[in-house]
Amino acid sequence: MKSSNNSIQTQPLIKFILISSSICALCLMVSMLLLSTTKLLDLESSPQENVDASTSLEHLVFGLGSGRTVWPKRKEYVKLYWKPQKMRGCVFVGSLPKDYQSNNNNNNTNDKSSLPPLCLASNTSQFPYTWGPTGQLSANRMTRMVKDLVEMNYSNVRWYVFGDDDTIFFPENLVKTLSKYDHRLHYYLGAPSESYPAAQNFSFAMAFGGGGIVMSSSLAQVLAKVVDSCIERYPYLYGSDARTYSCITELGVGFTKEPGFHQDFPEVDMVGNIFGLLATHPLTPLLSLHHVDRTEPIFPNKTNIKAFQHLFEAANADSQRIVQQTVCYHKQFSWTISISWGYAIQVFQNHMPLPDVLRVPQTFRPWSEETVLKDIYNFNTVPIQPDPCKRPIIFYLDNVSSMEDGAIISNYRKSFQNCSYDMASLNKLEVIKVFSKKLDLDIKQLLSPRRHCCDILPSRADDQLEVAIRECKDEELIFHAVAK
Ligand SMILES: *[C@@H]1O[C@H](CO)[C@@H](O)[C@H](O)[C@H]1NC(C)=O
Ligand SMILES: *[C@@H]1O[C@H](CO)[C@@H](O)[C@H](O)[C@H]1NC(C)=O
Ligand SMILES: *[C@@H]1O[C@H](CO)[C@@H](O)[C@H](O)[C@H]1NC(C)=O
Ligand SMILES: *[C@@H]1O[C@H](CO)[C@@H](O)[C@H](O)[C@H]1NC(C)=O
Ligand SMILES: *[C@@H]1O[C@H](CO)[C@@H](O)[C@H](O)[C@H]1NC(C)=O
Ligand SMILES: *[C@@H]1O[C@H](CO)[C@@H](O)[C@H](O)[C@H]1NC(C)=O
Ligand SMILES: *[C@@H]1O[C@H](CO)[C@@H](O)[C@H](O)[C@H]1NC(C)=O
Repeated sequence: MKSSNNSIQTQPLIKFILISSSICALCLMVSMLLLSTTKLLDLESSPQENVDASTSLEHLVFGLGSGRTVWPKRKEYVKLYWKPQKMRGCVFVGSLPKDYQSNNNNNNTNDKSSLPPLCLASNTSQFPYTWGPTGQLSANRMTRMVKDLVEMNYSNVRWYVFGDDDTIFFPENLVKTLSKYDHRLHYYLGAPSESYPAAQNFSFAMAFGGGGIVMSSSLAQVLAKVVDSCIERYPYLYGSDARTYSCITELGVGFTKEPGFHQDFPEVDMVGNIFGLLATHPLTPLLSLHHVDRTEPIFPNKTNIKAFQHLFEAANADSQRIVQQTVCYHKQFSWTISISWGYAIQVFQNHMPLPDVLRVPQTFRPWSEETVLKDIYNFNTVPIQPDPCKRPIIFYLDNVSSMEDGAIISNYRKSFQNCSYDMASLNKLEVIKVFSKKLDLDIKQLLSPRRHCCDILPSRADDQLEVAIRECKDEELIFHAVAK
């Protein structure tokens, strides 16, 4: 437009064309302004990619680190969440089983329909590793997974998700959580270890690999180009996640913490298991669990894998509500009822203020006994009552059923308690039935989460308690109103 100013004086026809084309340009600009900003951005991106479409599972690509010898056992955990029709990615191994290539190998048929393919990781033997002979010798190979995966040229990728073969992901919740972020920007997401010494040793701003590391596609593309130089520069670090963190830090990209990722479910002691962590999950969708083969079974009387399968019966019915904690108060009996949806319900025999109910009962012991800080966690804990009769009574998920209208009924059955209570009503109670609606969080609810409320329904039988979960009213408070 600027360069045409001179000619406007001279030639009327050109003048006319210029004026009318300016008007056209103006119309175009106005109409473009009328379009949403996302539409404007749309014009800049590749034609095949519809950036307006909300993020779905098809936009994610997974890279799982494994090894040929451990995979046959670990694959059972991946089967829990993997949806072959909808999910893309690879399980990276240092070497493939001899017969793996043959597609019509009968032994693989079952696995092929329920698992991601095995992919050969690039050979990283030329890179130094000096942490020590007992360290993660596969750390360099795992660090390079981002390059291996990006170079596979998957189409239409918004997010790369990296995890271990003993990580359980909750894919629907991942998609929901990632939909809060713009994949065209550089994002590095995850969570540090729950163990204070581990986070202190590595970094509080680092995504720990077992809990899962998520990178926006744009960041992964850049990282893939520079990662080799970082592997050269950080031979003295222990694992791949510390190398990845160092490299992303060198790129100047910050860390976005999502507390639904769980790196370090600590090992268990005599008292219990990771119950405490699952019973009091933070107010955010559950995204991952790690070290799933090292914890005690999360449900009594079940093997470890059967117990996780049981949890997935609930996750498949309502993924977004899984282990979300809802608390209500029984006025008549003065009980506090804390529901971890799809997992377990704790019934306390007294009224407890809500902030106390949200503390994590310390049913676990630390991973390593080496440091004085071993018993310090990055969340609020509360010790277990030594007297079994003062502990809450635990009801574990029995079954879940979904109705067509989105209503869901979940039943929880009383577990063995080494105690006979003074209160007859408590001794009689066997089952708690919970009514809820399938959760589908919108962007506002994801950005500004709010705990749900619950009501105790009128009793129909002595051995059964019925509870309904619903959204809280605007000014509603979750507390115990003292009877007047
Ligand atoms: C295939 O399965 C059969 C029977 O289960 C077993 O004997 C054989 O070793 C398997 N082959 C491979 C390559 O895993
Ligand atoms: C990796 O490369 C080195 C030599 O560069 C070779 O000795 C080694 O066998 C290779 N490893 C694999 C698993 O191919
Ligand atoms: C991915 O794309 C690059 C660049 O076009 C190409 O060199 C490479 O061979 C492709 N890789 C695969 C696995 O198709
Ligand atoms: C991390 O722990 C190792 C020993 O396991 C120790 O040598 C190192 O100094 C620690 N690093 C930091 C930053 O605390
Ligand atoms: C465990 O399961 C067995 C067999 O199903 C049953 O007999 C037993 O009562 C169960 N124990 C507990 C504590 O639920
Ligand atoms: C579901 O659990 C409840 C309570 O434990 C039980 O009464 C009911 O029979 C179970 N339903 C099915 C279909 O197993
Ligand atoms: C129940 O608790 C008592 C004392 O607290 C203990 O002596 C007994 O062994 C326990 N029984 C079981 C089955 O755990």
